[in-house]
Amino acid sequence: MPRATTKVWNIHPKEFPERAGRAEQIRFVLRYALLAPSTRNTQPWLFDSDSSRVRIYADFSRWQSVADADQRELHVSLGCALENLLIASEQFELGHALKWFPPSPTGNLVAEINYIDKFKADPARPVRLFEAITRRRTDHGVFDTRPVSDTILKQIRSVSAHKDVSLLLSRDAEIRDAVDKLLLRADALAFANPDWRAELAECVGSGGFGTPWLLSMLGQFAIAHLNVGPQMAKHDHKSLMSTSVFGMIGTRGAGPQAWVHAGQVLERAWLMATSHGLVLQPINQLLQTEPTREACVKLFRAGGAPIVPFRLGYPREKVPPTGRFDLSNVLMEE
Ligand SMILES: Cc1cc2nc3c(=O)[nH]c(=O)nc-3n(C[C@H](O)[C@H](O)[C@H](O)COP(=O)(O)O)c2cc1C
Repeated sequence: MPRATTKVWNIHPKEFPERAGRAEQIRFVLRYALLAPSTRNTQPWLFDSDSSRVRIYADFSRWQSVADADQRELHVSLGCALENLLIASEQFELGHALKWFPPSPTGNLVAEINYIDKFKADPARPVRLFEAITRRRTDHGVFDTRPVSDTILKQIRSVSAHKDVSLLLSRDAEIRDAVDKLLLRADALAFANPDWRAELAECVGSGGFGTPWLLSMLGQFAIAHLNVGPQMAKHDHKSLMSTSVFGMIGTRGAGPQAWVHAGQVLERAWLMATSHGLVLQPINQLLQTEPTREACVKLFRAGGAPIVPFRLGYPREKVPPTGRFDLSNVLMEE
């Protein structure tokens, strides 16, 4: 397993190799894809690129088979990486055309991005999204309770339109209280499952997770061997009560392509929020146990199947970046 590094965040648009060939330019924009969020920071992606295209493959060796049994979160994560790649490509006026899930000998090809001469910027990818890529963070902590304005919520919705994906944003205190109760139950159910705990402990122990908050709070041994559910629930409750906006990304269909689209919408919403100084935390453990998933379906009735529940708000403290595998670690061998 390669080591994750925070050096990957040191990238600046001025470094774009304007005079170099297309292959080098494509490798540059790929570095923005690496900065995408992913479930447990697993970074379940592999890339193959040349002078005319990028292929994004799912890396199933990073799949969290207990927590993410149907590979939904894995595909959402791939959608986030794809979206970063497209946003960065458009920033540098690299025209692109996409093929979804083309057949491949290995069967894990998610998308092929062909670079073409004709360039057309997508209005759902304004420059401020690109500028937010290096500033986007997951905030696991307590938020500043300052309210989020309607104007900002409107702007987040404006970049999140997709025919197969819905985005719900709510300031309803009843939703918050219901989510709080569900999260308590989800934490208890998840931590009571030894397989779930073992998988989380292994992920944290591998160092790839790169999320010191969890390690410092619980420790790898504790996650694997002790019932730390109540401690986790206490932390989650405090964080949740500081939240004024809850969101849910839903899809009309099910399956890998719908989930990749959901990831694209999540990333655009997240980057727009970041551009306004906000932070976000997905709370996917709500969907990782059947009883709480069913309750979420009822709670967020509109918008199809629930895919990513999240909370949104202003940070209390500056959140440092988490590590990523370097591009050389996720580029497929020629
Ligand atoms: C599909 C998906 C599900 C996630 N689920 C959770 C979650 O349930 N709880 C949480 O705290 N963070 C969750 N995250 C955030 C990741 O842990 C985070 O993206 C990763 O650790 C990298 O950190 P960063 O987002 O600050 O770069 C999720 C992210 C994605 C893309």
